[in-house]
This record gives sequence, structure tokens and C-alpha cells, in this order.
Amino acid sequence: MAKKVLVTGGTGYIGSHTVVVLQEAGYEVLIIDNLSNSNIDVIEGITRITHTRPVFEKVDCTDMDGMRAFFEKYPGIDGIIHFAASKAVGESVRKPLLYYRNNIVSLLNLLELMPEFKVKGLVFSSSCTVYGEPDKNPIDEDAPIKPATSPYGNTKQINEEIIRDYIHSGALIKSIILRYFNPIGAHPSAEIGELPIGEPQNLVPYITQTAIGIRPYLKVFGNDYNTPDGSCIRDFIDVMDLSRAHLVAMDRILEGKSDENMEIFNLGTGRGVSVLELIRVFEKVTGKPLNYKIVGRREGDIEQIWANPEKANKVLGWKAETPLEETLASAWKWQLKLRERGIM
Ligand code: UD1
Repeated sequence: MAKKVLVTGGTGYIGSHTVVVLQEAGYEVLIIDNLSNSNIDVIEGITRITHTRPVFEKVDCTDMDGMRAFFEKYPGIDGIIHFAASKAVGESVRKPLLYYRNNIVSLLNLLELMPEFKVKGLVFSSSCTVYGEPDKNPIDEDAPIKPATSPYGNTKQINEEIIRDYIHSGALIKSIILRYFNPIGAHPSAEIGELPIGEPQNLVPYITQTAIGIRPYLKVFGNDYNTPDGSCIRDFIDVMDLSRAHLVAMDRILEGKSDENMEIFNLGTGRGVSVLELIRVFEKVTGKPLNYKIVGRREGDIEQIWANPEKANKVLGWKAETPLEETLASAWKWQLKLRERGIM
């Protein structure tokens, strides 16, 4: 019988791509999402790709009664991949309590319900933001955790600690924490992708919206950093590669491949690419010159960070493989599809 996985935040950006990968691998997928930052139409996109409609329930993970009712209605869930969270750094500075409530209460509810409903494993969506500004790159999982620079970042750190403490207390669950670097791109079919609501905060949606004429120009935040071209450096990882890592992590937990009850992995390519380099590659791939202006630094930005993904490569047998050109082409194809559908 197919194993059942609950994906919280499954209509969101990384969640929806992971649902596709899980379904294609034979998992039965159930999604809960409060649709605060995503659209129900994503379910149609997923279904067009996989020809399998995932179960969907509009539930807010902070609503304990709603969550318990969900687990009662759908017994036999084997594992959970927990994406549901608020993720805008700037907003978290303005609305810290919203972020602490959403991101922390959601996890507490899940952890409390897991043993009650005999759910064995949790894959948790964390971020390289827990490392802050690294002393050296590439950065591996043993690098120190730096004080968070935003409430959003702090919720990721606190959630990692909550999982650690809970497992340490003898809770009968296993967890894999995945620290993502910068996920970009879309499913190659352009049936699903990243759908920012309002003005995008992240680089690639801003680039594609500029290229298509929704934004007059991209603001490049700073060219006076201590990097070869002066712009910040990131580890941009294709969202499909990232999604596949979640499948491998879930398999690992449910097939009992590890003796450890909690493991942490960096998910990146191992290659640092500057903001200006990324723009060049985008221009090459699309054949469109991008209108951009260099402006001042953005507060809270890290100068440079890229992953040492060796642990994930070796232990999970997973590797980010998609060339950056292909990833940016998928992001552009998605933007064109949004235009075609009259969404943006
Ligand atoms: C940010 C968060 C990270 C979070 C991730 C996903 C910080 C320090 N990190 O990553 O914790 O997990 O978003 O939500 O906030 N840039 C521009 N112009 C733009 C937009 C971005 O030049 O219009 C530059 C930024 O200065 C940065 C790079 O592009 O150097 C990447 O920015 P972004 O896509 O926002 O991701 P991060 O800031 O790396």
C-alpha cells in the first residue's frame, strides 16, 4: 500500500513542487494549507502534471482543533513534510508576533499530534539563514549558528531547537531538518512555479517580472561588497532538485535507513553565484537585456554564502544537478505562462 505523506504548505512554492515529486514516486499525498500566501489553483497545476489529485484541506496549522480533526479524518499518515510558515524577512521585522505565532505554534501542534496519530517522521523546512554571515564559505552543517537577524530567521532557529529537544526527550519520532540555500525556478512544464503576491521580495521573481514589463527595473542591492564583482553571492538551487531532496529524506526516515533520530542537511549546489552573474545568465538564456540599477545595500543582507552540500551528497545520495541556465529558463517559462493566463 502506498505510504501517506502530509505536506503542510503544499500549495506554496516549494511545497507544490515537492508534492509532484512525492506523487510521482508513488506516495499518497495529502495537503493542508491556509492559503494565506498561495492559491487553490495550484492543485489543478499539480493534477495536470501527475494525473493524480492530492487530497486538499484548508486548515491552518496553528488551529489545534482543526489539525486534530484532520488527523482523525485521514488516519494512517506515515510522515509529514512541514513547509507551512510565513517567510518574508522584512514583514517579520514589522510583525514579529505574527511570525512567532504562525511558525512556532504550527510546529508545536504537529509535534504534539504526531505520537498521538502514530506519525513516524517529520521533514522540516529550514534555511541557511540560521548560519547568519558565515566566517568562511562553503558552509557545512557544523558551522556555528549565529544570532538571527530577523524574527523570521529566529523562528527557524527556534523550531530546529524545539525538534531537537523533543526528540532528545525520547519522543518516538524521527526528523530530518533541511537547510535550504536559495531555491529558484519552476517545474519544467510551467504548470506550477513561484507566485509572489504583491511586489516580489526575492531576486528571481523580481527579475522575471522586470523582464516581462511588470516592474520598470530591478534594483540590485549594492555593488560595494567584498566580492569579485561587488554584488552579493548566493547558492541558487533549482526547486525541482530541492524537492527531490525531500523525497529522499522522507524515504530515509520511513525506510529506517538511519540510526540517528535527527539529522541536518544543507541543500545547495556548492557553487556561489553573484547577483550580477545571475543577471548575465538570465539575459543569455532569454536573449532579453534586463533593465537594472545599482542601488544601496538592503538592510540585513548577507554578503556571501554558499553551501558545502557534501553531507547530503554522500549520506542522502542526493545532488543538485540542474544547470543554472535550465533553472532560469524554467523561471522565465513560468512567467510567460502567468502572462498567457492573464494572472500577471
Ligand atoms: C532571503 C532570506 C532567507 C529566506 C529567503 C527566502 C535574508 C538575509 N535571507 O534570502 O532567510 O529563506 O529569502 O524567502 O533576508 N536582490 C536584489 N534585488 C532584489 C531582490 C534581491 O539585488 O530586488 C539581491 C539581494 O540583495 C541578495 C540576493 O539578491 O543579495 C538574493 O536575495 P533574495 O532572493 O531576497 O534571497 P536572500 O536574501 O538570500
